[in-house]
Amino acid sequence: MTRMSLSTTSENGRTTPDGGQPQGRFDIAPYLKPGARIAPVHATARGALFADDCLNVLPRLVDSCVDTVFADPPFNLGKEYGARTDDLLSDDAYLAWCRRWLDECVRVLKPGGSIFVYNLPRWNILLGSHLTELGLTFRHWIAVEMSASLPIAGRLHPSHYSLLYYSKGKPSTFRRIRTPVQTCRHCGGEVKDYGGHRRALHPNGITLKDVWTDIPPVRHRKFKSGQRKANALSTKILDRVIEMSTVPGDLVLDPFGGSGTTFRVCEDRHRHWIGVEIDYAPQIVERLETNEIHPHRNEDAVED
Ligand SMILES: C[S@@+](CC[C@H](N)C(=O)[O-])C[C@H]1O[C@@H](n2cnc3c(N)ncnc32)[C@H](O)[C@@H]1O
Repeated sequence: MTRMSLSTTSENGRTTPDGGQPQGRFDIAPYLKPGARIAPVHATARGALFADDCLNVLPRLVDSCVDTVFADPPFNLGKEYGARTDDLLSDDAYLAWCRRWLDECVRVLKPGGSIFVYNLPRWNILLGSHLTELGLTFRHWIAVEMSASLPIAGRLHPSHYSLLYYSKGKPSTFRRIRTPVQTCRHCGGEVKDYGGHRRALHPNGITLKDVWTDIPPVRHRKFKSGQRKANALSTKILDRVIEMSTVPGDLVLDPFGGSGTTFRVCEDRHRHWIGVEIDYAPQIVERLETNEIHPHRNEDAVED
């Protein structure tokens, strides 16, 4: 059992309990189809980043090569991204675009691999249906509580993002994560009595639920890129996705790199990675090179 405490410098650093930093640069060649004329803009010992449109990169990857896909695309809300991203399409055009990259993600996923898609519930209900039509197995609809959201007239107050979790057949890796028993921030006392079964609980806490209410916002400048203001997810989400569905040495694909959260966590958790980002690749490179952006504190425990 490993405790995921990523808050200290040594655990955030490059020291690796599983044998140290691999030698040389990650070799992307075995993952590219013959004649694919694309090259990463940056490579570390564990991964490679393409500064490109994912619809240009994904079709050039070989079939069944990736253990886990994590995708956090633009939500089609007309948000300001970089110069090459159009985030205000018609509903049909947005869904058609999503189906194109999803099809490719599923093709490159190994049998037994997992795919996670982070989006608004209104889109994920339809994207989940597409994944089901592609023959994938539904695992979970994870509700990730929004830290700040505004009420909308005539609707319920939206308060969660959806994280879809599907697998390609029976998952080859599913590791149980436990979260600490919740305590009161003020008095330190335990918040729940677990219906009188508190003493029967596992010492490492309770099995991770499909409702995540403990994801901190990425606000403080310690946790986000100074150059890029928005759209970074908490490292805690990626810790969970990666620890749940992969083991060290596995390969993770993220077609919408953003600020590079997935790649930073892969580096820290000793996974290989392939990333794509259309507009912000330089900021990702900076994050990977400087290691200045801190991970969120995470007291989950993962069973080996
Ligand atoms: C919601 S953000 C991802 C944030 C990321 N998960 C993180 O934690 O930093 C979506 C990203 O996708 C990028 N993007 C949009 N369209 C893209 C495309 N066709 N190919 C690759 N990246 C794209 C945007 O520039 C943006 O940075």
